[in-house]
Amino acid sequence: MPLYFVVALKIEDYQVSAEQDSAFIRNFALVIATLLGVTVLLIVIANSLFGDDDPAREALAQERATENMSPSFAVRLSGEPAPAIASAEESEESGGVTEVRSGEQVTQAVCIACHQGDFLNAPAVGDAGAWGDRVSKGWETLIGNVANGYGNMPAQGGAASEEEIRAAIEWMVESETGLEVPES
Ligand code: HEC
Repeated sequence: MPLYFVVALKIEDYQVSAEQDSAFIRNFALVIATLLGVTVLLIVIANSLFGDDDPAREALAQERATENMSPSFAVRLSGEPAPAIASAEESEESGGVTEVRSGEQVTQAVCIACHQGDFLNAPAVGDAGAWGDRVSKGWETLIGNVANGYGNMPAQGGAASEEEIRAAIEWMVESETGLEVPES
C-alpha cells in the first residue's frame, strides 16, 4: 500500500463527528464555568475570613510599616545635640516635662572621666587651685569652651546641653570649691 493511503486512513481514524465536537465544547465550557465559580467562591470566603476594614488596625499596621522602614541609625553632625537632649529640648518647647540632668548627674555621667584626677591637665572636681584662673573667664566663655572644645578637652556639646554644662560647672566648681563664676 502506498504511503499516501496509510496516512489518509490514519487521519480518518481520528476524525470526530460534528456531534462529538459540540459535546466536547459543551463539557469544556461547563468545566471552565465551574472553575470560575469555585474561584469566586474562594475569594468571597477568604475576604469574609481575613478581610479587615477596622480603621484602628489599619492605622497600627501603617505605623508599624513606617517604623520598620525607618533607618536604624542616624548620622549626628558635630554641634547637633545628642538624641536624648534633642528630645528633652523638644518636650520643653511643647510645654512637656523636661528631663534635664542635675549638675552632679552630668558631671558623673560625662565630665568625671577627665575631671577627677589630673587627666591631660583637666582641673579636678573641687580643686580650687586648679579652677581659680579659669573661673574668672565668666560663664559665657566657660560654657562655650566646654560645648565646643578647648585645649585638651574635646567638645562636650553632643553629650550635654548648655543648660546641663552650666549645671555641671556650678556643681563641679562652685559647690565643690566655693569659687564663683562671674556672669560674663
Ligand atoms: C575627655 C576629657 C574631658 C571631658 C569628658 C570633659 N573635660 Fe573639661 N576639660 C578637660 C581638659 C583636658 C581641660 C583643660 C583644657 C586645657 O586647658 O587645655 C578641661 C577644661 C575644662 C574647663 C575649663 C575651660 C577653660 O576655659 O579653661 C571647664 C569649665 C570644663 N572643662 C568643664 C567640663 C564639663 C562641664 C564637662 C562635662 C560636661 C567636661 N569638662 C568634660 C577634659 C575633659
